[in-house]
Amino acid sequence: MTSAPRLENLPRTIELVRAADGKAELVYVDQRLLPGELAYARTRDWRAVVDAVRSLAVRGAPAIGAAGAAAVALWAQERAESRAFADADASSYLSELEHVCAQVASARPTAVNLSWGVARMRRAARGRVLAGGGAEEAAAALFDAVKALEADDEAANRAIGAHGAALLPKGARILTHCNAGSLATVFFGTALGIVYAAAARGKVARVYADETRPVGQGARLTCWELARAGIPVTLICDNMAASLMAKGEVDAVVVGADRIAANGDVANKIGTYGLAVLARRHGVPFYVAAPASTVDKALSEGSQIPIEERDPAEVLPHPIAGVEVWNPSFDVTPAALIARIVTEDGAFAPGDLP
Ligand code: MRU
Repeated sequence: MTSAPRLENLPRTIELVRAADGKAELVYVDQRLLPGELAYARTRDWRAVVDAVRSLAVRGAPAIGAAGAAAVALWAQERAESRAFADADASSYLSELEHVCAQVASARPTAVNLSWGVARMRRAARGRVLAGGGAEEAAAALFDAVKALEADDEAANRAIGAHGAALLPKGARILTHCNAGSLATVFFGTALGIVYAAAARGKVARVYADETRPVGQGARLTCWELARAGIPVTLICDNMAASLMAKGEVDAVVVGADRIAANGDVANKIGTYGLAVLARRHGVPFYVAAPASTVDKALSEGSQIPIEERDPAEVLPHPIAGVEVWNPSFDVTPAALIARIVTEDGAFAPGDLP
């Protein structure tokens, strides 16, 4: 059985730092390059952060929440540095803030964490400016607010891990989809946070990672991350999960979430719904792990969650004349197929989310 995961081998996915000259700079793992290369990108440009989110250089719901927050903080820094605008009045500051927040929040539509992270910064900036603070004060407040969000994310993930690990049997063989690991968060992960916490308690025999077509987050990211952490991992193609369950090789399915409606319906990477159907057919418990910030109480049910459709080239890199491609990035798993939703506050039946 696994012993303590080697978390020291995992990078921090995203981090706002102060560079030598005192300026804020976002440092993040460029996930497009994994598993071939572990490379960090650095930027002070909020527009580059928006591009990083769109292009999946930074991906995973909590990680893009942190990226969105950092983008607003970098804008605030740029705004404070700009001579022409440093002394502008509060109302022009606030209208620019609105414009930037809207642009950042719309980089990807499904994960509610992005607009949640942006809204947290918007509140912090408005509060500071309406209280009479200048652009520099607002920029400093936003830097601190991003650091607090980063710390909250890791703490939430560790709590999710502890609550989720308690649900798993000893010797658990866990199937997961996409990457809801440390790479999808600031650090530690949600679904894989449960794996790490369970492994530390000697409970994990093996993780099966779905390849996760079309972008391969399971094959490229989950396998890389688990191997680095010393967790036994087996890669399967997405179409192998049914056979694996039929052989009795899966004790639990554990996945992340991009948005959870008030009734417990869960949007997550395309293919999650199919896994939930298979899990029900084979009597395997299906668990969803996500911070409370992924719950969108404004939406009563999953059909209201906007589903991102991405470039057909992700599915068919070399177009074939006369062939259309449908490439939804997420699907919705009905609450009825979910055994528990695990947040930092505990493990809940989907209908009982706080
Ligand atoms: O398109 P991606 O890679 O951002 O999709 C990520 C997922 O679907 C994850 O499962 C989800 O964001 C949860 S991450 C803790």
